[in-house]
Amino acid sequence: MSRIKRIGVMTSGGDAPGMNAAIRAVTRTAIYYDLEVIGIRHGFQGMINGNFKQLKAHSVSDIIQRGGTMLKTARCMEFKTPEGRREAYRALREADIHGVVCIGGDGTFTGATLFNEEYDIPFVGVPGTIDNDIFGTDYTIGYDTALNTVVEAVDKIRDTASAHNRMFFIEVMGAEAGFIALNGGIATGAEAILIPEVKGGARNLKALLETGKKRRKSSNIIIVAEGDGEGGALAIAEGVKDDFADYDIRVTVLGHLQRGGSPSAIDRINASRLGHAAVEALLDDQKSVMIGLQNDNIALVPFKKAVKEHKKISQSLLYLAEILSV
Ligand code: F6P
Repeated sequence: MSRIKRIGVMTSGGDAPGMNAAIRAVTRTAIYYDLEVIGIRHGFQGMINGNFKQLKAHSVSDIIQRGGTMLKTARCMEFKTPEGRREAYRALREADIHGVVCIGGDGTFTGATLFNEEYDIPFVGVPGTIDNDIFGTDYTIGYDTALNTVVEAVDKIRDTASAHNRMFFIEVMGAEAGFIALNGGIATGAEAILIPEVKGGARNLKALLETGKKRRKSSNIIIVAEGDGEGGALAIAEGVKDDFADYDIRVTVLGHLQRGGSPSAIDRINASRLGHAAVEALLDDQKSVMIGLQNDNIALVPFKKAVKEHKKISQSLLYLAEILSV
């Protein structure tokens, strides 16, 4: 018999569409196993402050289709300190919480790892970030919706780009990773894709655009990941404008619109699977592990590994993008 009778659930870091579906799955799975569920509001900061609220089955009705997170989220500096974590432990003990499901990204799992080295309340993680950049899982909650948002936006820009013979630089999210940019670029037939994982992208860009010019391409879409390392879409556009003076250049930064919106079917289903598996892992006395999806199967990955190792961009997708953009 597991000693876990009451669990907490929280979201932390950047929100991602599908987090609500995960909260719902955690809550209803826990209730199915006769556990009590406490919603921890505002991430680790709420944990420190004891900002708790009991969740019943009906508390999570009508949220599966909503973006954002009903529990709110935050990035918390205090939890990075031993004093902050001590306060969090005190609050969890006081509320008689025996285990926590934390939904978030790298920062969330780093905090949870430290906590589990110091204290005996187990944390199990669910990967939630639109960036899809967490090692040990093929998928993170919110990525599919964000990717579809990008595709819809770029398609619209393509219409106006070709109507005016313009060159558009479109910046997408991905502070440290190019998964949204690469896949978004392939899905929209972008002429070029610049991502942090490939160095010197701006230099190669000129040669690429030159080839396009010779082929009399009238419009161009260049997708730039925000963390491309060369200063983002504005700086790159500035850098090529003298060499391509006959093109009318425009820049669009898609920004936080990529984080919102109703989650796709894939995000809802995967978030439900991950949330469910997280509760079962806690009942199975797991701790300090992330629940990932590998080849569409649930996989348990130690937080330490998920945080330390770097998820690699697919070389075959890079190759594909290069061939198809000609
Ligand atoms: O959610 C991850 C992410 O989308 C990054 O790609 C981006 O740099 C970051 O969030 C920005 O988030 P915020 O504006 O909330 O700090």
